Amino acid sequence: MKIAFLGKGGSGKSTMATALVRQLRARGMKVLAIDADHNMDLSYNLEAEPSLFLGADPDRIKEYVGSTRAGTYDAALQVAQDRKVIFTLSPLDAFTASVSAELENGLRLITAGPHTDRVRSQESCSHSLAAPLKVYLPLLTLNQDEAVVIDERAGTDPVATGILSGVDLAVIVQEPTINSKRVAEQIKRELEIAKVPHIIVNNKNAGIEIDTLLATEMILAHTY
Ligand SMILES: Nc1ncnc2c1ncn2[C@@H]1O[C@H](COP(=O)(O)OP(=O)(O)OP(=O)(O)O)[C@@H](O)[C@H]1O
Ligand SMILES: [Mg+2]
Repeated sequence: MKIAFLGKGGSGKSTMATALVRQLRARGMKVLAIDADHNMDLSYNLEAEPSLFLGADPDRIKEYVGSTRAGTYDAALQVAQDRKVIFTLSPLDAFTASVSAELENGLRLITAGPHTDRVRSQESCSHSLAAPLKVYLPLLTLNQDEAVVIDERAGTDPVATGILSGVDLAVIVQEPTINSKRVAEQIKRELEIAKVPHIIVNNKNAGIEIDTLLATEMILAHTY
């Protein structure tokens, strides 16, 4: 299962994603955590000191699958599918090995990373940091005991820009505020257009421990 967290800024995406990673590990699952937000909160929550960034060379995945750097991610995905390229955690493929850090036995982390000079000089937009996921996620093939948890950037962008294709479940985190509910509805609409299965979980109701426990139980009921 590949599970992504979405929601308004500050709604609790990274907190919930961290709780799910811990819960899945407690159940003996092998987990790949993907921190797609340039604030790198998931990485820090998992006590990592990220230094390896997927977004440092976002075109490399195109070359890896046999396409060209100048082409689009959609074209690279098509080339990869024609060539039957897949990514796997066990055995660990060479691309995943080169962009992920092992935090503990059974827990790896991919960090999209902070803004780069290419973004600052407007050669690329900030979505480029996580854009390799457009190719990576659909091709990542998991065993039964493996899960992927993705902490996304705030708002509708990750869905509308196609970064969430290949995700099995999108979890929209919602605070009990009008703005948070409105953004949750906007994200839900984008997920419906993109045909990504999704649920809404509530946060900031009863305190972190109870909120994350209830949300995690709801997510696991939908997945495992
Ligand atoms: N259930 C909760 N109860 C109280 N505080 C919470 C709860 N969930 C999250 N927080 C706090 O709210 C703040 C925002 O949480 P978090 O960083 O998880 O949100 P986010 O949606 O990932 O934000 P961003 O969009 O900035 O990445 C943090 O300080 C976090 O500790
Ligand atoms: Mg966050």
